[in-house]
Amino acid sequence: MKLAHYIDGAFYINEEEKYLDVLNPATSDTIAEVPMATLHTLDFAIRTAEQAQKVWGQVPAPKRADYLLDIGYKLKEKKEQLARILTEEMGKVIEEARGEIQEGIDMAFYMAGEGRRLLGETTPSELTDKFAMSVRTPVGVVGLITPWNFPIGVPLLKAFPAIVSGNAVIWKPASETPMIAYEMAKIFDEVGLPKGVVNIVFGSGGDIGTELVQNPHINVISFTGSTSTGRKVAELGGYHLKKVSLELGGKNAVIVMDDADLDLAVEGIVWSAFGTAGQRCTACSRVIVHEAVAEQLEQKLITEIEKLTIGNGLDEANKVGPVINMEALYKIHSYVELAQLDGAKLLTGGHILEGDDFDLGCYYAPTLFNQVRPDSRLAQEEIFGPVIGLIQVANLEEAVAVNNSVTYGLSSSIYTQDVNTVFRAQRDLDTGIVYVNAGTTGAEVHLPFGGTKGTGNGHRDSGASALELYTELKSVYIDF
Ligand code: ALA
Repeated sequence: MKLAHYIDGAFYINEEEKYLDVLNPATSDTIAEVPMATLHTLDFAIRTAEQAQKVWGQVPAPKRADYLLDIGYKLKEKKEQLARILTEEMGKVIEEARGEIQEGIDMAFYMAGEGRRLLGETTPSELTDKFAMSVRTPVGVVGLITPWNFPIGVPLLKAFPAIVSGNAVIWKPASETPMIAYEMAKIFDEVGLPKGVVNIVFGSGGDIGTELVQNPHINVISFTGSTSTGRKVAELGGYHLKKVSLELGGKNAVIVMDDADLDLAVEGIVWSAFGTAGQRCTACSRVIVHEAVAEQLEQKLITEIEKLTIGNGLDEANKVGPVINMEALYKIHSYVELAQLDGAKLLTGGHILEGDDFDLGCYYAPTLFNQVRPDSRLAQEEIFGPVIGLIQVANLEEAVAVNNSVTYGLSSSIYTQDVNTVFRAQRDLDTGIVYVNAGTTGAEVHLPFGGTKGTGNGHRDSGASALELYTELKSVYIDF
């Protein structure tokens, strides 16, 4: 299947463009071809978005919100079909793919509600016969650059607040996962979203992404991806004085205290470390364990990890799917080799899975290390694969210090039954999200999503705070 861009409410093909193969990571089969936009195509999308925004920005916000309700109902209707496409092109197991579509549905309904509020404020003037208020206005045209690991969830977390705030959107999906974006274009079309409000342009980050970030007609950039690319986006976008939102890497830890329910902890660690084959920005990749329960936890983890069924995510029996591509597979393996050179002890996994059961897919065995040095590369760098390292500590203070010793600050978790430990940990863990007695993944749409330090630059997706990015506050003084 040859895909097409979606611009001005229609599918758009530019005969001059090259196509890239889209591969199913479970089999390495080609399942689609995606066009790589020229700057000419992007320019068409930008001009279209600018025109559309002028009209869309004048539509009352509650009416804009009604389109989100329609989109939410469409997503519900098509949930199973979309989940299968997502699994086919990205690899995550079908149950997780359904969860991702559900996140989009939740966000549609949640943001439709925010569209009915879009709160500004009134405040008493210092002067008589003067009225003072602030109102939220759209920012204009918004560029979204989104990743392959959440190819529909993350874009919708960004697109819905952008749309409901009265902006037009240009969305550049990751080239690895364009099919789900193409399906989304059909939904925008089916609900009659006015032409040009959302435009989808497929293309390379280096060409189209860079131009989106520097083009003077794009007012906001929201980027989710690697920290190294995020720095470039920040630099270029900053130079052009744009609002730039960055949601970048993570090196998330689960802390297990000596009073923890160990079975519960094992469940949370396994799910948050090996869900999406460890390719979530929120994935658990370090387990910081109190020395009194370290050995017990280690044994329980090995048992549960070795029970995980690995294979094509379309098979409901499988709990872990492939990683995104061969390049990722070899990168993960190189970290595993490095960890051993660094003195970590491999407890299970540690190899690429090959053979008849795995077709030609990109499968890595769920991997557990212990004796991991907190300052080693395994414990400090984002691996983006199914690999975890155990680090022993003597008390909460040490656990918090190890947790906070990385350059990232997205998600953290603590298992304990002591309420004082809970309150101290939530205060001291330097991450944007803290879980208590749950793993490091599974953020909902109602609260801010994002992190501290190298994870971002202070903006948040999700929750009402997402509107801060997509609106300008205008202060209005009325003398009467
Ligand atoms: N919502 C996803 C998670 O929290 C990104 O894992």
